[in-house]
Amino acid sequence: MLPLVIITHTLPEDWLSKLIGQCDPLIGPVDATEMAPTLMDMLPKVDGIFTLLTIPITEEILTRAVRLRVVSNMAVGIDNIDVSACTARRIPVGNTPGVLTESTADLTMALLLSIARNIPRASRDALEGRWKTWSPAGWLGMELHGSTLGIIGMGKIGKAVSRRALGFGMNILYCDPNENNVDFASRVTMEELLASSDIVSLHAPLTTETRGLINQHTLQLMKPSAILINAARGALVDTAALAIALQNNRLKAAALDVTEPEPLPPSHPLYQLPNFLIVPHIGSATQQTRRKMAEVACENLLAGLRGERLPFCVNPEVYSLKEKSE
Ligand code: GLV
Repeated sequence: MLPLVIITHTLPEDWLSKLIGQCDPLIGPVDATEMAPTLMDMLPKVDGIFTLLTIPITEEILTRAVRLRVVSNMAVGIDNIDVSACTARRIPVGNTPGVLTESTADLTMALLLSIARNIPRASRDALEGRWKTWSPAGWLGMELHGSTLGIIGMGKIGKAVSRRALGFGMNILYCDPNENNVDFASRVTMEELLASSDIVSLHAPLTTETRGLINQHTLQLMKPSAILINAARGALVDTAALAIALQNNRLKAAALDVTEPEPLPPSHPLYQLPNFLIVPHIGSATQQTRRKMAEVACENLLAGLRGERLPFCVNPEVYSLKEKSE
């Protein structure tokens, strides 16, 4: 009998071709925002879960999934998964680092260029008939060349963004507790970074330490002329505090790929602000990247089902725990 796996969402079939003949998949709806009730009912029988970042994998799910041997997230971020509850049960958790670095860095630059040069507002004005003439003092944006970009989180994506920004002639500051060896950027404290950057771009994972990193207090430390970019995780930013800072011109503008909550409800005041750009969590949304993410997630899933080490495991301590108990 093939191992039974839950795939929480319907995905393009060819992205999952590695699974053919290797497991018996139970597939959720295309637009699932939680694990479908029919899949929840099957939890006691499943050997593996392949999930997306929008589905919380909770203690409750893990308690019901008594046979579970692997959780594979089709994302690099794993904040939707109760990893310590998985580790306590010796269940390896897989993610997809590396394959989405370049596309996410591209999207960050797209947000940065658009918001810095007023493209959303200028485009809206052109589309809606407010372009009367070449306007010498209209739609003025920020000069990127010579400006300072502050990168919070100098991991793979932070570095890929930095490489692009260097090409635009920007100076780079960064803070990251785990990276002190970067020769193209100056490492500073978070306070210095916020006070000195013209653009602050977030590339940190969401953890208990980073939740609400940008809040009423830290927004006050930024220059009123500065721009905030977030293509990491919505909950790094206190959304209400950001809205107030933009409304009061305490901050010049913000461009978000991710929000808290996500999606941001249509009635949210941020949508009314002219100095705000939002896209629906599309950092990794290219054909090539999304396919590669699915393939890596399949490889993690299959390795877990075979009892092998996952190619990309976020809790490798499960293996030493296993060895100790054997
Ligand atoms: C996307 O947000 C990811 O974590 O892969």
